[in-house]
Amino acid sequence: MKIFSDNIESLSSLYVTHLRKALDMEQKITDALPKMIERSTDPELATAFRNHLQQTENHVNLVQALLRNATGSDGTETCKAIGGLITEAEDGMKDAADPAVLDITLIATGQQVEHHEIAVYGTLRTWASILGLADDAVTLDTILQQEKDADKLLSTISNGANLQAAA
Ligand SMILES: [Fe+2]
Ligand SMILES: [Fe+2]
Repeated sequence: MKIFSDNIESLSSLYVTHLRKALDMEQKITDALPKMIERSTDPELATAFRNHLQQTENHVNLVQALLRNATGSDGTETCKAIGGLITEAEDGMKDAADPAVLDITLIATGQQVEHHEIAVYGTLRTWASILGLADDAVTLDTILQQEKDADKLLSTISNGANLQAAA
């Protein structure tokens, strides 16, 4: 697909809209993770969520900085997708009675959130590159790599947790 010069203005406004949604997404994840840490029974899982909460708080700051730089303000737009995923996570936490099942539920919803974030930041990084915003693209790539690493770590923990739940 070719992006022509008259499309740049609309891509630029789309970029800002999706940065605002990304900020809302990160703020909602920042609110959700403490509950997921509290409910994790596996210490390795709790640590993984705790470390990613710190990264997520930094993602909030980084996206706010990108928005302020692009628009002079850091207002959000509602990310409906993350709201749905967090509701799924809350339902899963309510329904899981067994601790091992609770952990695999938390991992599953955690990975769904990471996959959504990977899609969001992959897109934003590409758009930043097309728009010639090289510094933005570097920041977005840094966030993207952290989301990918968080997902990989959850996959590793999941291998042990699934075995425990099946036992
Ligand atoms: Fe994030
Ligand atoms: Fe994340």
